[in-house]
Amino acid sequence: MKFLFINGVNLNMTGRREKGVYGTRTLGEINARVAACFKGDECEFFQSNIEGEICSRLHAAQDEGWDGIILNAGAFTHYSYAIRDAIAAIDIPVVEVHMSNVHAREEFRHTSVISAVCRGVVAGFGADSYILAAQSFKL
Ligand code: DQA
Repeated sequence: MKFLFINGVNLNMTGRREKGVYGTRTLGEINARVAACFKGDECEFFQSNIEGEICSRLHAAQDEGWDGIILNAGAFTHYSYAIRDAIAAIDIPVVEVHMSNVHAREEFRHTSVISAVCRGVVAGFGADSYILAAQSFKL
């Protein structure tokens, strides 16, 4: 299968920021672990701190034949109607991912403006959230 993993704002700091929440593995290490889990599949990894770049990556994905997109939009999750509309604009199923259990954290993290246009949500399993989300496409 073909999987596109998209990480949004501040996820490039994973492993260096709030280690008690997000762990000590860098995003590169997390991606390498994900790729190792899906050896027989095609995986591409994209990260941007810029909302519009994430929208553009989602638009471009429409014609690239992905089976699924695994998206951790970071804080954009909680307020980006632009990313929500970009997800709604494409036919590829998107699974929303969070490493932390956002529902056990601050109130503002309990709201996701993208969940309603995603196939499902995986949250709270650390770096394994990405693996569980991609696995869902194989069920
Ligand atoms: C996050 C949760 C968000 O609330 C936060 O802004 C992030 C990371 C997670 O992976 O747990 O940057 O998406």
